[in-house]
Amino acid sequence: MCGIVGYIGSREAYPVIIKGLKRLEYRGYDSAGIALLNGGLKVYKKKDKVADLEESVIGKDISGTTGIGHTRWATHGEPSDRNAHPHVSNSGNIAMIHNGIIENYASIKNELIKKGYTFSSDTDTEVLLNFIEDIKKNNEGTLEEALRIALKRVVGAYCILLIDKNNPDTIIAARKGSPLVIGIGKNEHFLASDASPIIEYTKEVVYVNDYEIAIVHADELILKNLGNEKQTPFITKLDMELSAIEKGGYEHFMLKEIFEQPQTIYDCLRGRMNAETGVITMSGIQQYEQQIMNAGRIIIIACGTSWHAGLVAEYVFEELCRIPVEVEYASEFRYRNPVVNKGDVVIAISQSGETADTLVAIETAKEQGAIILGILNVVGSSIARKSHAGAYTHAGPEIGVASTKAFTAQLAVLIMVALKIAHAKNTINKERYLLLCKELMEIPDKVAIVLLQNNNIKALASKYKDAYDFLYLGRGYNFPVALEGALKLKEISYIHAEGYPAAEMKHGPIALVDEKLPVVFVATKDSYHQKIISNMQEIKARKGKVISIITEGDTVSPTLSDDIIIIPPADEIVAPMLSVIPLQLLAYYIGVAKDYDVDKPRNLAKSVTVE
Ligand code: AGP
Ligand code: GLU
Repeated sequence: MCGIVGYIGSREAYPVIIKGLKRLEYRGYDSAGIALLNGGLKVYKKKDKVADLEESVIGKDISGTTGIGHTRWATHGEPSDRNAHPHVSNSGNIAMIHNGIIENYASIKNELIKKGYTFSSDTDTEVLLNFIEDIKKNNEGTLEEALRIALKRVVGAYCILLIDKNNPDTIIAARKGSPLVIGIGKNEHFLASDASPIIEYTKEVVYVNDYEIAIVHADELILKNLGNEKQTPFITKLDMELSAIEKGGYEHFMLKEIFEQPQTIYDCLRGRMNAETGVITMSGIQQYEQQIMNAGRIIIIACGTSWHAGLVAEYVFEELCRIPVEVEYASEFRYRNPVVNKGDVVIAISQSGETADTLVAIETAKEQGAIILGILNVVGSSIARKSHAGAYTHAGPEIGVASTKAFTAQLAVLIMVALKIAHAKNTINKERYLLLCKELMEIPDKVAIVLLQNNNIKALASKYKDAYDFLYLGRGYNFPVALEGALKLKEISYIHAEGYPAAEMKHGPIALVDEKLPVVFVATKDSYHQKIISNMQEIKARKGKVISIITEGDTVSPTLSDDIIIIPPADEIVAPMLSVIPLQLLAYYIGVAKDYDVDKPRNLAKSVTVE
């Protein structure tokens, strides 16, 4: 994700763009930049926040009535001044900003380098820009024509804005997979990733569709498809408030991020896994594939929700790769004087990439010769810089303090890594391997189906919101999901909840069970299912209230449950990405029902950078 703003009209572009970028900083804040046309092309860009950019341009020429601005969420190339957008083409004539990922940028870059192009950044964006310029030069055509040809050849997602020094009265934009809204003013137009930078100037907007190109002048908006056919702009009247727009129309960032998961999981898999051929490409771990295959042990180090993702990964790696796995709380690992053998592989899982306990723990392991792989959501974060290699989850900024989309993205990446290693080690047969690739690819659509249970779960939340304690029970792959569900409830609704292996209940905690205690069973159809049915009976026999997450077609669990949430069938290895969704929603709606600030729960911080 990132924030994109453009302006063309009679006003000074700079103040419109800067204010708009501040409204979009929730979409990414690694760096910010602006390009202005005022007889020449002026580009100012800087690592860090929009406010830092503002400070850096004091006293500089920021005039111009045409401009584009960007606040970045890095995917290719760490946050830095040089990787900040806008990027400028080799000729120095064209500036571009981009939201999205160009998946085939590496091969295009190699071709351009052979033709003598040079690059001043590590981004995929700069490659696309020079690809467009190269086509324009070779075809001796317009920028619009060159853009159309280029977009037919790139793979990935984009929303791009381009300005050309030689055509100062035009902004050209295009989108596929990343949003673009154009505000219609009187002899002026506003372009942005969402309507929040636009709404104070005009409520008349056009939502650009995928595969459309917009040629924008102060007094004219022309929409075309990639076939160069004019499209009629459909003008919508905005009726949302500003704050609602930033949250995409959702009441809270947490709910928005829960509902983003079909897209974010897809973004995680896209360009990495081809379910048809079974080819998994993860350039970030490629060079360490051999070491992971030969690892005597994998040590997973993380905190909180990321630690729960690590527990799921333990089951996955041990089953598929037959490599012993230990999952460690970072805070415990680092103080324990742990035994780390050379050749051990450490997987550090962290959404923020800044968690102090995890950061210091991997430094301890690294000093003792371990290889460190980071599964992270923030490019160029401290843990990224301490890792030998890794893979980004590409879930976009997670604003809600309670981690939701980052968790499912972590699972998607970890399962891909395990599949890749198992395939390389030949510890999985081809049929099961291809089945799991297909199962993984189907998860985004199945998550969307689970999200249709939203109202059912909201009703459950109001039914159980006054409980003083919850138990969350699961077995096998669903045991970590039970832990995650309990953590979500605790941090959002402040109700005590405990996750437990379902079979462990009889060794003590079952003494807690009475008619007031809701017990959530993560009981999807898997190899443990018959056993968990028995555990349900144990709870029912003691009058506990049973809420079950079950697989479509399960006719037994409902007879033992007070309430059920049905999810689509899926292989047990990928099922946690589905079974966690109802638990995220349950925690969210109970928190809302209790009127708590679900985006900023008391006592918590999004990134715990203290030990
Ligand atoms: C999760 O909902 C919590 N906010 C918290 O447990 C979090 O997962 C933990 O602090 C680890 O954060 P990280 O993934 O950024 O390292
Ligand atoms: N892929 C581009 C980059 O890493 C754009 C990322 C974004 O959408 O912010 O710079």
